[in-house]
Amino acid sequence: KVLILDFGSQYTQLIARRVRELNIYCEIHPFNKIPNDSESFKAVILSGSPVSVRSDDALHPDLSEIRGKKPLLAVCYGAQYLAHFSGGEVAESNTREYGRANLGFIKEEDDFFENIHEGSQVWMSHSDTIKKLPTGGVLLASTEDVENAAFKIEGEVTYAIQFHPEVYHTTDGHQLLQNFLVKIAKVNQDWTPNAFVEETVQDLKDQLGNDKVVLGLSGGVDSSVAAMLLHKAIGKNLYCIFVNNGLLRKNEFEDVLHQYEGMGLNVKGVDASARFLDALAGKSDPEEKRKTIGRVFIEVFDDEAHRIQDVKWLAQGTIYPDVIESVSATGGPSATIKSHHNVGGLPDFMKLEVVEPLRALFKDEVRRVGASMNMDSQLLGRHPFPGPGLAIRILGDLTREKVRILQEVDAIFINNLRSWNLYDKVWQAGAMLLPVNSVGVMGDERTYEKCVALRAVESTDGMTADWVNLPYEFLQKTSNEIINKVKGVNRVVYDISSKPPATIEWE
Ligand code: XMP
Repeated sequence: KVLILDFGSQYTQLIARRVRELNIYCEIHPFNKIPNDSESFKAVILSGSPVSVRSDDALHPDLSEIRGKKPLLAVCYGAQYLAHFSGGEVAESNTREYGRANLGFIKEEDDFFENIHEGSQVWMSHSDTIKKLPTGGVLLASTEDVENAAFKIEGEVTYAIQFHPEVYHTTDGHQLLQNFLVKIAKVNQDWTPNAFVEETVQDLKDQLGNDKVVLGLSGGVDSSVAAMLLHKAIGKNLYCIFVNNGLLRKNEFEDVLHQYEGMGLNVKGVDASARFLDALAGKSDPEEKRKTIGRVFIEVFDDEAHRIQDVKWLAQGTIYPDVIESVSATGGPSATIKSHHNVGGLPDFMKLEVVEPLRALFKDEVRRVGASMNMDSQLLGRHPFPGPGLAIRILGDLTREKVRILQEVDAIFINNLRSWNLYDKVWQAGAMLLPVNSVGVMGDERTYEKCVALRAVESTDGMTADWVNLPYEFLQKTSNEIINKVKGVNRVVYDISSKPPATIEWE
């Protein structure tokens, strides 16, 4: 496996994903928390950083067990760190060193640049520049503005690059990482979905033995794939609970429950719609709605879990981005571990031990693991859907009638996205019911009815997002269908706001 030391760069997770794409397992750790089992890492990568090596806040990793002992690739800050503190020189750069550049000189006889040729585009993002190479430094590549764009250290397997191989705009980044990790560091490419499934199932068997495990299914990708892995490991000792909170999409509860049963899962569907909707009656503040849903979910889940005798474990679909420890911009050891978006409400008083089979995976890997277990591609490709469901897409207070209207509207929108082959091109889509009535005409009559907003965004992680430029014809047909078929709606608008500043959900 490969160790990535994080110095707080916004791109650190991308490095990990690129490494994983080479079927190589890697872990991200803060630069100042090098894991104890560092001997089990075959190679090390140092990330970039928002901090300057010349500042008082410069980050100092302890590389005593790494430098000269293992293959090391230093990216951006990493490269500057090697230069600045080992006999070289780093200074503020006076030319622009952001964005696109081309490698003008490459020392091609080195394996590091195999199959990469002069002119290859690289992506720069730094304001300091390496003026003089460190002791033992050998220049490997330059660009027009950056002389010391890549170098190695004589007598060590240490490479350093000023540009970012992990970003899409560095055209040969994949090749470069492959050259370093496979050709030079000789790391095995054995991290495949099949190998992950085999290994994880065996580990779960060892860990869980004959114990009973309870898992809350949401209909989403993560909990479904986690369930499938556990099912392979412990079969009927996995007790899945799928709660209908009355705020799911149209027919979703029945359809997904049916699908889970078809997968052989031991799943209990609990229709608690009335309990949720009664508890929500009269509440219009978004946070109050979220809290109410969280609380009722705990109650329902807890009731159900108590029906299972001797349950020992709670399984969760937590994935890697939720557990990576972040390095704060000042580099101080940061204790913030991002909390899982969906687990805020899970019952910690249940005193169960937690098992999280997807902890090491990125979202796209979860999908690939699911595919390697032959899970349904529609289930694996489903858009993210918030835990509080339609409650946060109905602005203001909730009624059963409003839920019904929004379910109809949403179903038309989503079905049309599917039939136009647009569903998989969109990261997330849904409809919002606005607290606005407006005047319309239908036949000879004047109407005063509800307005819905459609939202479709592209994104990679939901942190930033942009609206999707859906075809006019699609919008026209969908709008017509909604207004003709859904009683109570006479106006449809399309949301053309990006995040930030707008969020994806309206509440
Ligand atoms: P926003 O609206 O913050 O949404 O741009 C970003 C992503 O998070 C989802 N989301 C939630 N998921 N509970 C959830 O489980 C919530 O309370 C919640 N609020 C937003 C949203 O659907 C989008 O994918």
